[in-house]
Amino acid sequence: MTLPAPHDKANTVRAMFARIALRYDLMNHLMTFGCDRSWQREVVRRAAPPPGGRLLDIGCGTGGIAKEAWGRDPSLEITAADFTLAMLQRGCNGAWRQRLRWCGADALSLPFADDTFDAVTSGYLIRNVTDIHQALAEQCRVAKPGARIVCLDTAPPGRHPLKPLIDFHMHRVIPLVGGVVSGDPLAYRYLPQSTRAFKTPEELADAMRTAGLVAVAYQRRMFNTVTIIYGRVPVSDVEDAARG
Ligand SMILES: C[S@@+](CC[C@H](N)C(=O)[O-])C[C@H]1O[C@@H](n2cnc3c(N)ncnc32)[C@H](O)[C@@H]1O
Repeated sequence: MTLPAPHDKANTVRAMFARIALRYDLMNHLMTFGCDRSWQREVVRRAAPPPGGRLLDIGCGTGGIAKEAWGRDPSLEITAADFTLAMLQRGCNGAWRQRLRWCGADALSLPFADDTFDAVTSGYLIRNVTDIHQALAEQCRVAKPGARIVCLDTAPPGRHPLKPLIDFHMHRVIPLVGGVVSGDPLAYRYLPQSTRAFKTPEELADAMRTAGLVAVAYQRRMFNTVTIIYGRVPVSDVEDAARG
């Protein structure tokens, strides 16, 4: 599979997630060796919304990060937003329908007013959007001054002693297992290909600074193939000017 052309990307991505929605969580669990939950916990910990605050999880899929945030603090007002209906439908079952505000939304044009949220999170969204800068700009716009913005995503592994093993897992094991589990091998070929073509954590950090965030930093996980990257919306014009 070649990566979709930019003008096709949004439709291709939406259709792909609609096809794999049913088995998405199971497959995530399998290919991360069960680490997905601990990364979601770390995203929520880094987002650190205040009690009773508003959190937006954009590109929420089945709502893993949003559910983790609710589990940590049920006083939060959590909006779980995505542009793939099938993923939202899969996530908002049972009690989750009421606990979270599920919302259809495009990350590139968020249907929220400026300065709405105390924290914004996303998991594996940024690699999938057609315009990373626009997605980050929108997250900054809807976040209040001082809010944290946290992105979890895969990353090109770069130089690593275990690179042959990592490549084998990404380019052979994941498409094979993903094909069997989800019935859609193409989707699980797109994952390693889009990861290889994606920004390094340093480049993503630069994009977050360009979007206006301060105190940008990141952590790497799973042999550098996963990054949790975070920054804060400046609280004042002085802080904004200080970032240069
Ligand atoms: C890999 S899934 C991640 C789901 C979830 N965040 C997680 O951590 O497991 C990526 C999600 O991003 C959504 N997505 C991609 N581009 C989007 C966009 N422009 N606007 C809203 N959602 C988008 C897809 O529909 C999909 O549900």
